[in-house]
Amino acid sequence: MQELKMEDLVNYCKQYGYIFQGSEIYGGLANTWDYGPLGSRLKNAVKDCWRKRFIQERPNAYELDADILMHPKVWEASGHVASFSDPLVDCKHCKMRHRADNLVADFDPNAHADGMTHAELMQYIKEHQVPCPKCGACDFTDIREFNLMFETQRGVVKDAKNIVYLRPENAQGEYVNFLNVQRTMRAKLPFSIGQIGKAFRNEITPGNFTFRTIEFEQMEYQTFCKEGTDTELYDYFKEYGKQFFISLGLPEEKLRYHDHEKLAHYAKSACDIEYNFCFGWGEINGTHNRTNYDLTRHQEYSSVSQTYLDPDTNEKYIPYIIESTYGLDRTVLALLNEAYTEETLPNGENRVVLKLRPFLAPYKVAIFPLIKKTHSEKAQEIYHELTKHFMVSYDDAGNIGKRYRRADAIGTPFAITVDDNTLENGLVTIRNRDTMEQETLPIEEIASYIQERINY
Ligand code: GAP
Repeated sequence: MQELKMEDLVNYCKQYGYIFQGSEIYGGLANTWDYGPLGSRLKNAVKDCWRKRFIQERPNAYELDADILMHPKVWEASGHVASFSDPLVDCKHCKMRHRADNLVADFDPNAHADGMTHAELMQYIKEHQVPCPKCGACDFTDIREFNLMFETQRGVVKDAKNIVYLRPENAQGEYVNFLNVQRTMRAKLPFSIGQIGKAFRNEITPGNFTFRTIEFEQMEYQTFCKEGTDTELYDYFKEYGKQFFISLGLPEEKLRYHDHEKLAHYAKSACDIEYNFCFGWGEINGTHNRTNYDLTRHQEYSSVSQTYLDPDTNEKYIPYIIESTYGLDRTVLALLNEAYTEETLPNGENRVVLKLRPFLAPYKVAIFPLIKKTHSEKAQEIYHELTKHFMVSYDDAGNIGKRYRRADAIGTPFAITVDDNTLENGLVTIRNRDTMEQETLPIEEIASYIQERINY
C-alpha cells in the first residue's frame, strides 16, 4: 500500500459516510466536521469501550453528565480566564496568523518549543529565520496571548455580567460535583468520576482533519486520591491509557509517551500519549497530576469547603486529582488512520478494507441474497432476525464480488450469502472480512457465531 495521506482519509470518510465537512453546502466552516451514519456508530462504539474499561471495570468509578454551561466563576477558579491561551503571531507579509510555539516546533521538533517563554520563542524565530509556512517570509508581529474559550451571552441583556463560556474541558464539571458524587455514592478515596462530553476551543490553527477542531468530544476521568498516593496513580493511568488504545487496535509501536517540560498552570506532572498519524506524531490522550489545585481553587472561589473526611483516619484534607483525558475525535481518527488499508488480492484485484476490530465496526454483518428474485425473502427474514442483536446491513445490488468490496470498504467484519443451500438446507455462507475465508453455518447459529466475535 502506498503511504496514506490525510487527504485520502478525508475523501474516504466522505465517500463512505464516516465524516463530512461541517456546513458543507455553505462552503464549510473551518475546523468543523459532521459524523455521518458510520462515523457516529464508530464514535459510539469507542465510547462504549471507554465506559467498559473506565466505569464498569474499574473500582469506585462513577459516570457524570454535567452541563456544558457552568457558572462563569468556575472558569476564573480553574485559571482558564486568566491563562487558557495560545501565543499568536501574525505574518506581517501575508497576514497569516500562527501559533508561535507551533512555528518553532514544526521548524525543529527537537527545539523543545513547549518549554519556551514568549521571549525565547521570538528569539528563536529571529535567530533561525523561521519562515512563515504560507509565504516564506520571516517577519512576524510580537506574540499576543489569545484566549481559547468561546464566550456567549446569557439572557437578553448583553453585558459583561451575562457572559457564560462554552466549556473548554469536561474536567471542571467533574470537580464541582466532587462532593455530590462522593456523598451520594458514599465513595471512599480513591474514587473516580468519568464523563464523556463536548468541549469547545477557539482554535485558529489548521486542523489536520478532525485532529484539531473547535468543537470536540472528550472522555475525561478524574481520580480523587490522598496526597502521597498520587504518583503511583499517575504512573498507573499512563499505562492504563496505553493499554486502552492497544485494546482498541492501535499497535504499541505507533504509540509513545511525551512527558511535558512546560506544565499547565495546574499540573505537577503531565504526560501525553501520542499516536503516529499519517501526518506525524500527535497527542491523543493526557495524564495529569493536578495536585489539589482545582479543588483548593473551587473552595476559595465558592467559599464551599471541598475537604474530604477520611473515615479510616479521621483526617480532613482536600484530595489530589489524577486526570486521564482522552480525545474521542482524535481516537476515532487514529483508529481510521490505522484501519484504512488498500490491498491487492491474489487475483490481482484491488480492495479497500477498513480493518477495524469487530467490536468497533459500524455494521457487524452484511446480508446478501445471491439472486435477488429467488433469495430475497429468506435473506430479509434473516436480516430482521439479526437486527434484534446488532447492526446489520443489507445489499442486493450488483454481483457478490462488488457487494463484498462495499462491505470490506466500510469495515463490516462478516458477510452472509443466502443461496439455494439456505432454502434447501437452512445453511448460509459466512465470509470473514480479513481472511476472506468462508464457512457454512446453520441459520440458528449465526447470531451466536457473530456475538462471540464482536465482544470487547
Ligand atoms: N482536562 C484536561 C484537558 O482538557 P487537553 O490536553 O487540553 O487536557 C485533552 O485536552 C484531550 O482533548 C487531548 O488529549 C486531545 O485528545 C483532545 N483535544 C484537545 N483539544 C482538541 C481539539 N482542538 N480538537 C480535538 N481534540 C482536542
